[in-house]
Amino acid sequence: MRTFCAWAAVLLVLTGCHTAEPDLTEYASGPAEVPLEILGEMDEATREALIGEPKYVALTFDDGPRPGTTDRLLDGLLERDAAATFFVIGEQVRGNEALLRRMAAEGHQIGNHTYSHVRLLKMEKDAVVEEVHKAEVTLEAAVGKRDFWLRPPYGGIDAARAAQIRTPMVYWSVDPQDWKLLDAGKVVEAVTGCVQPGDIILLHDFYPTSVDAALEIVDRLQGAGYTFVTVEELFRIQGVEPQPGTLYARPGKVRELP
Ligand code: NI
Repeated sequence: MRTFCAWAAVLLVLTGCHTAEPDLTEYASGPAEVPLEILGEMDEATREALIGEPKYVALTFDDGPRPGTTDRLLDGLLERDAAATFFVIGEQVRGNEALLRRMAAEGHQIGNHTYSHVRLLKMEKDAVVEEVHKAEVTLEAAVGKRDFWLRPPYGGIDAARAAQIRTPMVYWSVDPQDWKLLDAGKVVEAVTGCVQPGDIILLHDFYPTSVDAALEIVDRLQGAGYTFVTVEELFRIQGVEPQPGTLYARPGKVRELP
């Protein structure tokens, strides 16, 4: 067990878990007023559920949609009443329009992950606008006009290029590197080991192991009192007004751009 914990700690450092912030929820008093003498007799989970602040978290999925994995994920999220956000590659929309319409109909947020998954930092400013716009037009044709927030591929963008972007941009605060681990169990441990309320979790609906992991993460965190919402809802809940051209790791945490 000790070696496992040590290994898990190393893994968490390697996989970009956000730096620990004090978990104030542990001390927060919630809306329910429960006499202390009763609280003392309860098990920890029940006590937490009674007095804890609601805990919200956002699952995000990049690089889809992909038939076979994205639809299985949507089935699982629907069963669990969990919302998510999908940052879709424009090139992959054709032939998968039904999957996109299903995402929209089932309350998920759809975002833009550029048309051809390019490294925006290597592109001229005009080409950046073109990549983002082309994906937007493609998404609009599938699900109608809406505000498609952008997740730059690899999270890479600089201030000069960001100034061209007319929507908010979404980075992440928990990255288990699911694409590299390709192991559902390890991805689940990496996420549940460091997640905090308000986090934005990065996964990819492209891999079967990531779909397995995502559904297990939902089960475990719902069991711990978490509610899964879209990124847009997370901003609203936290009272943060998202600004166009700004890259957010979490609603309250802007990522500095080079
Ligand atoms: Ni990507």
